[in-house]
Amino acid sequence: MSAAQSDALVFFGATGDLAHKKIFPALQSMAKRNHLSVPVIGVAKAGWKLDQLRERARDGLEKFGGGVDAQAFEKLCSVLRYIDGDYNDPATFAALRKELGAAQHPAHYLAIPPTLFGTVVEHLGKSGCANGARVIVEKPFGRDLESARHLNQTLHSVFDESSVFRIDHYLGKEPVQNLLLFRFANTFLEPIWNRNYVDSVQITMAESFGVQGRGRFYEEAGAIRDVVQNHMLQVVGFLAMEPPAITYHESIRDEQVKVFRMIRPLSPDDLVRGQFAGYRKEDGVAPASTVETFAAVRLHVDSWRWEGVPFFIRVGKCLPVTTTEVFVRLKRPPLVPLAPGNTNYVRFRLSPEVIIAIGARVKQPGERMVAEPTELKVVHHSSGVEMEAYERLLGDAMEGDALLFARQDEVEAAWSIVQPILDNVTPALEYAPGTWGPAEADRLTAEVGGWHAPEASE
Ligand code: BG6
Repeated sequence: MSAAQSDALVFFGATGDLAHKKIFPALQSMAKRNHLSVPVIGVAKAGWKLDQLRERARDGLEKFGGGVDAQAFEKLCSVLRYIDGDYNDPATFAALRKELGAAQHPAHYLAIPPTLFGTVVEHLGKSGCANGARVIVEKPFGRDLESARHLNQTLHSVFDESSVFRIDHYLGKEPVQNLLLFRFANTFLEPIWNRNYVDSVQITMAESFGVQGRGRFYEEAGAIRDVVQNHMLQVVGFLAMEPPAITYHESIRDEQVKVFRMIRPLSPDDLVRGQFAGYRKEDGVAPASTVETFAAVRLHVDSWRWEGVPFFIRVGKCLPVTTTEVFVRLKRPPLVPLAPGNTNYVRFRLSPEVIIAIGARVKQPGERMVAEPTELKVVHHSSGVEMEAYERLLGDAMEGDALLFARQDEVEAAWSIVQPILDNVTPALEYAPGTWGPAEADRLTAEVGGWHAPEASE
């Protein structure tokens, strides 16, 4: 980890969707906390002037950033610069070099399609903008294992690995980090967190909305590339990893990679793909598209701790609710006649609310010795000090702290897991919007009593 603080932030794709929805809100929050004192240089080819970029920032804050904070917005505007230019034109990078002035350690954030990474990285190198710099790249990192390797080579032709920050914004989320902390900070959990006591693990990432105008992007990605290869596998990693050593900084990422390497590459038998009815009519979507908007998979983690415990992931658009939830079903206790069914579990609701709940059984009041299910539940009420994922990650990258970013070997190991199920290995079965995907998905979890269906809100 290099200790130098970045002294300028450059973001390519300044007029794009990601900047609008996530980067400007993150920058305003940084300004609010007095964490933004360096020049922020937006780059794009839109024929815009700085004023238009400021207006775009204001609009993003109003729509997606919880509103404009007058003082923080003014601060952001005072450091904001804009360079309009083609990414293929050396003049764009000469202008950037000039704008960077005396900055020694700029952070270049590539909020652009991966097809443009190569061009931008090469020009950053040639123009001298990459000297002493860091590069922050967005997911999806490649389309498959081979393209991810190729992208890594491209980045490494100019930046060394310690200067590369691959964003997976799930890693920047408080409740995701809490999975790891809760597991290892509580004596009662760790002794049962293994194949002797855990029956199965399910992770559901359900979204009740569709592709929201991102049809073109989605056609390139599909649910597996969009969220399984990255967000969902990171969650599996935090749930399944061994305790990281506290004696060296990289240990968490080392343990994460170890888990990924112990997950068997997925087989089409362990996959159900779905597509919501109406997807093919979305803008930018092919009329005969076979891209999945739903995926359910069964993972096998071949480790000493997890052998035989199935891990299930279910993700999808146009499902009944919007929530991400982890459900760890524990093995049933031997008091079966007194307590039929199995309601022992640990539940982590990661969004929209942040909840940790333990499913337990207590005595039903009355004469009979009968159990009834209950939940011991902790709800996190926001205190307003939490950082949104993008703010946290941008700040970390500018400090040179790569812990919450995906390392090269990690990304490649994650691609190896999903590689055999990319594209049309099974049909994308149609499902009605507002349902839990194709009924075929029930086949995967039949042996563990079916899917856990999270509530809409709690
Ligand atoms: C993004 C995906 O990475 O994550 C989107 O591209 C998805 O399809 C989004 O909707 C979900 O993230 P969050 O933080 O809104 O739950």
